[in-house]
Amino acid sequence: MRVLVTRRWPAQVEQALQDRFDTVLNASDEPLTAAELARAMDEFDVLCPTVSDRIDAAAMDGGNSVRLIANYGVGFDHIDLATAKAKGIAVTNTPGVLTDATADIAMTLLLMAARRAGEGERELREGRWTGWRPTHLVGSGVEGKVLGLVGMGRIAVAAARRARHGFGMRIAYYGRHPCDPAVAAELEAEFFPELHALLAASDFVSLHVPGGAETANLIDAAAIAAMKPGSYLINTARGGVLDHEALADALDRGHLAGAGLDVYPHEPDVPEALLGLENVVLLPHLGSATAETRIAMGMKALANIEAFARGEPLPDRVA
Ligand code: DGY
Repeated sequence: MRVLVTRRWPAQVEQALQDRFDTVLNASDEPLTAAELARAMDEFDVLCPTVSDRIDAAAMDGGNSVRLIANYGVGFDHIDLATAKAKGIAVTNTPGVLTDATADIAMTLLLMAARRAGEGERELREGRWTGWRPTHLVGSGVEGKVLGLVGMGRIAVAAARRARHGFGMRIAYYGRHPCDPAVAAELEAEFFPELHALLAASDFVSLHVPGGAETANLIDAAAIAAMKPGSYLINTARGGVLDHEALADALDRGHLAGAGLDVYPHEPDVPEALLGLENVVLLPHLGSATAETRIAMGMKALANIEAFARGEPLPDRVA
């Protein structure tokens, strides 16, 4: 079976793939062009893309040889599932193994925004720090504050556990339905069936919904206006979920005290309006970036390819 890996993966996973399949790696780690992706769909049996590859209908237009798209990542909004299904191409992802790493980054952003860590580091490195004083870079405490989660999937629950058990925050969440009662009881979590009601009740809001058409611009200008004055917004989900112009405006006016972002609508571009603001922490999509997690993601993709090669049900099939 011919397998194409579109970006560099951890060395041991690349080796494992090469040991088992006729694998073409991407030594340069340069993203493939749309034309190269489309060509690959005609040349390989398995394509292993990441969030940085756009697998849309045009990319699958030829699509006459690839039978499995084994995505390296849990999110798959960069893959047109309807077209894949129509063409009989199976799609798998890597759920579960990046939950803790991503929840850690949500908490990193929350604490950095609350405690103005980015501002402080910039000040120090630029030689502007004049020494300790009682009114210097005073931020917000988090204990006893309400963390409002938008979506209550695996990563949201892991972030809520950290916030509740580690930092004494109160937990509230919005979702299509209440979560597992045992989880709700453990976290003493309050369910909000209405998004704007959750936003109005939260001191910190953290986004945990999948990307794609259904959630595009979910947090728009009206939603941001519904947030508590002086509150904070954290996004480790997908950039398309959030109106960044409206966010920049709310941060600039002081309606929001701060924000922490790990994802953007057109990565690696970062919305210009945010770059000049002190009260936003901007990370380059680091949610799953631990050595342990990146290996586990690769091994999960490999397990899906092996199941496919054996003609067995795919463990993480999404289409
Ligand atoms: C994912 O898995 O969807 C992340 O965003 C990329 O690591």
